[in-house]
Amino acid sequence: MVVVIARLTPGHKVPEQEQLLSGGAVCFALLQAAQALGFGAQWLTGWAAYDPVVTARLGLGPDEKVLGFIHIGTASEDAPERQRPDPDELLGDWVP
Ligand SMILES: Cc1cc2nc3c(=O)[nH]c(=O)nc-3n(C[C@H](O)[C@H](O)[C@H](O)COP(=O)(O)O)c2cc1C
Repeated sequence: MVVVIARLTPGHKVPEQEQLLSGGAVCFALLQAAQALGFGAQWLTGWAAYDPVVTARLGLGPDEKVLGFIHIGTASEDAPERQRPDPDELLGDWVP
């Protein structure tokens, strides 16, 4: 398991939203890299990511957040598929 942590720097030229998004991209890249190597991988947060006892034990400072626990292993079965949203309901054309 890889724990991805963001350290947010208020007032930095990179807005905090983008600092967080960059960390999210790290989580996504880890998933893709693990899967490209033939592993199963899943991005989880759950209560532990937000629990002050857990974050203190991980050594996080007040400006740091757990963005994900990236679980990587050998899949024993295929992940079940689920119903996906219709892309046409989410995408539109911009008409100026
Ligand atoms: C930021 C983030 C946190 C997540 N945390 C959980 C979690 O705590 N528990 C859980 O069952 N799934 C969680 N998921 C979802 C699983 O990773 C999910 O199985 C995965 O996104 C599969 O995606 P799909 O079904 O959209 O393909 C989380 C996903 C993201 C992006």
